[in-house]
Amino acid sequence: MKIFKHIAELQNEIQLLKANGQSIGFVPTMGALHAGHISLVAASKKACSITVASIFVNPTQFNNQSDFDNYPITIDNDKAQLIAAGCDILFLPSVAEMYPEPDTRTFEFDGIENVMEGQFRPGHFNGVAQIVSKLFDAVTPDSAFFGQKDFQQLAIIRKMVEKLNYDISIIGEAIIREEDGLAMSSRNVRLNAEQRKKALLLSSTLFELKNKIKNNSINEINNWVEEQFRHDETFKFEYFQIVNSYTLLPIISWDDQSPKTACIAVFVGDVRLIDNILL
Ligand code: PAJ
Repeated sequence: MKIFKHIAELQNEIQLLKANGQSIGFVPTMGALHAGHISLVAASKKACSITVASIFVNPTQFNNQSDFDNYPITIDNDKAQLIAAGCDILFLPSVAEMYPEPDTRTFEFDGIENVMEGQFRPGHFNGVAQIVSKLFDAVTPDSAFFGQKDFQQLAIIRKMVEKLNYDISIIGEAIIREEDGLAMSSRNVRLNAEQRKKALLLSSTLFELKNKIKNNSINEINNWVEEQFRHDETFKFEYFQIVNSYTLLPIISWDDQSPKTACIAVFVGDVRLIDNILL
């Protein structure tokens, strides 16, 4: 696996590869890699002849300084996992490389940036769009791979590609879970043993939803979900919402035939976890 820290060197390499007819798949990450990230590398390898992964903990998307300060960094382990997965190129830039000057761009995504994550993490998606657009410019991939774990982020990226006319296919991949159901996340390592057990309530609640939707109104379901997290102080419930999978607008009635996704965000101790399920 070749490693590049500078955009210019990466671009030289990519230009050579493209001139040789190679297709470029791209997997952007913030490191602390797990099987969820690696599934994206596998998907890229299936679809493209060259796979580029990036690891960059992007400061502009953290609305909470302590979340940024505590973000796990496991670079040696990450490299080993990428090599084992057959990743061809790792782009590993510094903050100075990606932000030689502060990025003052602001993005609008027709309102989908303001609901759910956008409401609870102001500025987060603007930071995501800043870095992903810079990474797309640096890597110039044919396809880029994102997890449905970050369901709203995937919608934002699709919208960004449309608005900025990027000629890049955006591919969404299924959520990879631990054996007991917990969605894999780099932040899971920050949970202590007790919190780790309790964190299961996010996925188990989402799985149970499928049985509930037959006999309950959306309102009853919303109340039931919130109720699950009310009695334990370990949890700080942020939101639960059933949304139209495309517009991300809240579903008000089961009569609505659009595809629906149920999304949840809860703090377990001081670790913020999100999960979702397609209904
Ligand atoms: P990060 O949280 O490292 O995630 C990188 C990619 O892995 C994202 O597309 C995310 O949705 C996917 N992913 C995370 N957990 C997953 C799981 N359990 N199953 C499947 N895919 C999973 O998302 C980011 O980084 C950043 O916002 C980034 C896009 C890199 C911009 O900084």
